[in-house]
Formats: sequence, structure tokens, C-alpha cells
Amino acid sequence: MTAKVIAFLNQKGGCGKTTCSINVAAMLASQGHRVELINLDPQGTAIDWAETRGEHASPEDINFRVSSMGVNVQKELGAAKMANDYIIIDGSPTASKLTIAAIKASDLVIIPLKPTQADIWSTDSTVQYIHEIHDMRDQQKPLCYFLPTMVLTGSKISRTIASDLETGYGLPTMNRHTSQRIAYQDTFEKGGTIMNLDEHDKARHEIKMLSKEIEEICAEIK
Ligand SMILES: Nc1ncnc2c1ncn2[C@@H]1O[C@H](COP(=O)(O)OP(=O)(O)OP(=O)(O)O)[C@@H](O)[C@H]1O
Ligand SMILES: [Mg+2]
Repeated sequence: MTAKVIAFLNQKGGCGKTTCSINVAAMLASQGHRVELINLDPQGTAIDWAETRGEHASPEDINFRVSSMGVNVQKELGAAKMANDYIIIDGSPTASKLTIAAIKASDLVIIPLKPTQADIWSTDSTVQYIHEIHDMRDQQKPLCYFLPTMVLTGSKISRTIASDLETGYGLPTMNRHTSQRIAYQDTFEKGGTIMNLDEHDKARHEIKMLSKEIEEICAEIK
């Protein structure tokens, strides 16, 4: 079995691509899966994070490799796909060529999105690339989902947004989301992930449930 390739992509900056990538990677690795995280962002945030993680991180956080690739990611992934169960790609906010390359290399694209109108409008280009690749291939490959991120505690992430996204962009929304929680920033800044937190911590729990949903979607991909 070769690895399932999951990319967190959205050309809107600061929507949670890196945060979701490192935390989902750490959660899946902690469950015994072989995971590699690929930084596709010229800013190199995931690489910077990886360089600090040795000092403060929990054992789970150093359980997976982090490396960088570029526009040839599909080709470059060959060996990593043979050696892993999951490859997680942390996408770039700026470079369209990298976004397109990541869509082509992936089995599943997740579009993290703050559920505000301004952020929804800013996903236009990412969604357009996905539809172009689906049209070119004449099939819905890779599978693509929106993921609401930084949802304010107390606000219900309404299914109206999910239904607006589906109507407006023709793509479904995941059942899970991430809430606005300081724990994500705190753990990141210490070179760790939510795996550093207590097992019953809310941020850790929501990443656990998000990872479970990702695994379930991946299990359906041939
Ligand atoms: N659920 C969350 N709750 C609170 N803060 C969050 C959450 N998710 C992300 N953040 C914070 O928001 C900021 C942007 O997140 P992140 O770096 O993951 O976004 P990004 O999409 O990777 O950004 P870029 O487009 O620059 O690569 C960071 O400071 C991060 O700690
Ligand atoms: Mg990032």
C-alpha cells in the first residue's frame, strides 16, 4: 500500500494550513501510522517549526519526518509514498504553481477556511484550480473538502455556511472543524503540537476527531 497524500491548501494566507498540517501529522504519527510532512511553502514555516521541536516537543512530535519539496512534488514524492501511510503537504499561500502541483499530487485536498465572508471570497483561486484539474481529468480526483478553522467558541458553525459553500463552489465541507484556541499558538511557539497537551484537552480532542474523519475519507479512496 502506498501512502495517501493529503494537502492543506488555500491561497488565502493565515487560514490555518500549517497549524492543521503539523497537528494532524503528529496525531496520526502518535497512533502508529508512518507519516511524513512536506513543506511546500517558500516561507518554510513547517521547517522552522521542525527545527525547534527537538528541544521542547513531546516524543509524539518528533515521530515523523519533515522535508521540503517544490513544483516537482508529484515526482519527488515517489520514495516517500512507498515508506509511509500518510503524506501531509503544507501548502503555500502565494505560489499558484505550487498549489497546482500539490493538487495534482494529492488524493485528498483540505481547504482550511475561517468562516467569514471575506475569507470565503479569498478562496476563489484555489477552488478554481481544483475544478480545472477535475475537468482536465474528467473525474473528482483529488477529493476536496472545506475545513472551517478558528471557529469562535460559542458560535455554531452553521450548516448554512457549509451549504453556501457547496452551492457557491461545488465542494463539500468536513463535519469537523477547529475552534479558535490559544493552545494552538502556544504549542506551536514551543516547537510542539497539541500532543503536548493533556489527553482530555479540547484542542487535542478536536484534532483527534479531525484526524479520524480524514482517515475515514482516505479509507474510501481507491
Ligand atoms: N484554531 C486556531 N486557534 C487559534 N489560533 C490559530 C488556530 N489555527 C491557527 N492559528 C494561528 O493563526 C495563525 C495562522 O495560522 P497558520 O500559520 O497555521 O496559517 P497558514 O494558513 O499556514 O498561514 P500562511 O498562509 O502564512 O502559510 C498562527 O499564528 C496560528 O498559531
Ligand atoms: Mg503556513
